[in-house]
Amino acid sequence: MKRLFISSPFIPLSFSGVTNKKFGFSSPKIYVLICFTFLFFITVLSFSHRTIYGIVIDEAGKAVEGARVRIQATTDYTLTDDKGAFQVEGIAFLNDGFITAGKKNYFNGGEKLRAVKNNYQLMLKSVDNIDHKEYQWTPPHSIESSLEVKIKPCKSCHPELHSQWAKSSHSLAAVNPVFITLFSGVKNEIPFKKGLGFKNDFPQSNGTCVACHVPAMALKDPFGSNLMEATNIDKEGIFCDFCHKITGAFHDTMGGRPGVLSMEFTRPPIGGKQFFGPLDDVFPGPDSFSPLHSQSIICAPCHSGKFWGNKVYTSFDEWVLSPSAKKGETCQDCHMKPEGNLNHFAKI
Ligand code: HEC
Ligand code: HEC
Ligand code: HEC
Ligand code: HEC
Ligand code: HEC
Repeated sequence: MKRLFISSPFIPLSFSGVTNKKFGFSSPKIYVLICFTFLFFITVLSFSHRTIYGIVIDEAGKAVEGARVRIQATTDYTLTDDKGAFQVEGIAFLNDGFITAGKKNYFNGGEKLRAVKNNYQLMLKSVDNIDHKEYQWTPPHSIESSLEVKIKPCKSCHPELHSQWAKSSHSLAAVNPVFITLFSGVKNEIPFKKGLGFKNDFPQSNGTCVACHVPAMALKDPFGSNLMEATNIDKEGIFCDFCHKITGAFHDTMGGRPGVLSMEFTRPPIGGKQFFGPLDDVFPGPDSFSPLHSQSIICAPCHSGKFWGNKVYTSFDEWVLSPSAKKGETCQDCHMKPEGNLNHFAKI
């Protein structure tokens, strides 16, 4: 069984209230105070070096092996063994702690730690691995649309992340004027001489620009979507809910499968909620630990692109060969680095 040791912090106790002028053994109030202080101290000591143990199971009661277990918001974690068992030693807490568990394909779970309880059974609900294509995206912020299911937008609870995203080019990917122009073609006044633009060269084709720049639209129709017809949520470009429904990503080395064509998604049924993200200790909520979100490969489908044999987008390919990759540094380490307040997108 793997064990996790957590060093107990020094717990300061203040006796200043007992040493003032009124202090005297004749007062019964003081005896009561001393007794309580003593009891409090004993309780603190007995808590501070506790070992807690338990088991992680799924909704059918089956052991979950390899789940990450930790005291919420601490850095170390332990993994459950093949019987779903875990043990955490040297725990120090007074109250308000949670013990949590998370594993890929499960919603994170947890329980409040209690002074009198050393044995925990944590239940992880498994994620239904079906991608419900009829799901309606939750917008990053309120957008004018009667179509979206009325769910609170991300901004209402994640304002900081929203403002970082809003400043990044991901939020503008579908409406960026340079992009629109390069797709639709610049108008050229000189007769018979067309301006630069995809549509000028290929009037019959919509291309696959949407696969990376307007991914919500591409999911409905990757080859037939004309990005000039994007509406509502599609115009939000690469938005929060889109990235947090990704459950698979591949590097398209041959070309021909850009963006969403090299990705897998797990969307809930209409009105349902589920978020895949890097955290294994946030709960309760429809959050599922996704190791993929901390790996560079999640960026590869859009940040590597080969068209007609020519490499056009190479950020991922360059990273693969870089010293950074050898050091284990990911795209997220540089571009989504938390800086005190979570900095979700690099300012470059
Ligand atoms: C390009 C895809 C992408 C977009 C767009 C995106 N995220 Fe994320 N998000 C990620 C990835 C990848 C991580 C993991 C980052 C890491 O491991 O450092 C993450 C982490 C998170 C986390 C958990 C860690 C943290 O920073 O708190 C939250 C919450 C989150 N995103 C919410 C949002 C919200 C809200 C938005 C929109 C305002 C958003 N994301 C937009 C990809 C994305
Ligand atoms: C494989 C995914 C992918 C596809 C497909 C794709 N793009 Fe891009 N595009 C990107 C990425 C990623 C960037 C960001 C810059 C970079 O990495 O060079 C970008 C940047 C751009 C920019 C520069 C924006 C700016 O303001 O600097 C333009 C213009 C653009 N794309 C046009 C297009 C057009 C037109 C199409 C379709 C013919 C297209 N892209 C197809 C991924 C893609
Ligand atoms: C009602 C409030 C609320 C709304 C609305 C909300 N979130 Fe969250 N979300 C939270 C809280 C609370 C957490 C726990 C983590 C924290 O405290 O930052 C969280 C955590 C997450 C995580 C981390 C999951 C993990 O396991 O890593 C992601 C990703 C996320 N939210 C994405 C989103 C996205 C995308 C939207 C919009 C579609 C959204 N959230 C809307 C409250 C909200
Ligand atoms: C669905 C496709 C898609 C995914 C997934 C994606 N990107 Fe992008 N990204 C784009 C496009 C398209 C642009 C260019 C948008 C434009 O300029 O119009 C872009 C632009 C960027 C930029 C340019 C700088 C800026 O101003 O924001 C960075 C950096 C970036 N992406 C990092 C990442 C990282 C890191 C990941 C993985 C966590 C990621 N992207 C995942 C499509 C994607
Ligand atoms: C060691 C840190 C680091 C890592 C790792 C890293 N980047 Fe960057 N990236 C940067 C910096 C710094 C810049 C801006 C300077 C520049 O343009 O050279 C940048 C620029 C970019 C740009 C904008 C390029 C342009 O032409 O506008 C994109 C897109 C991008 N990175 C995507 C990625 C992706 C995707 C990954 C992972 C596959 C990644 N980066 C890994 C640090 C990093």
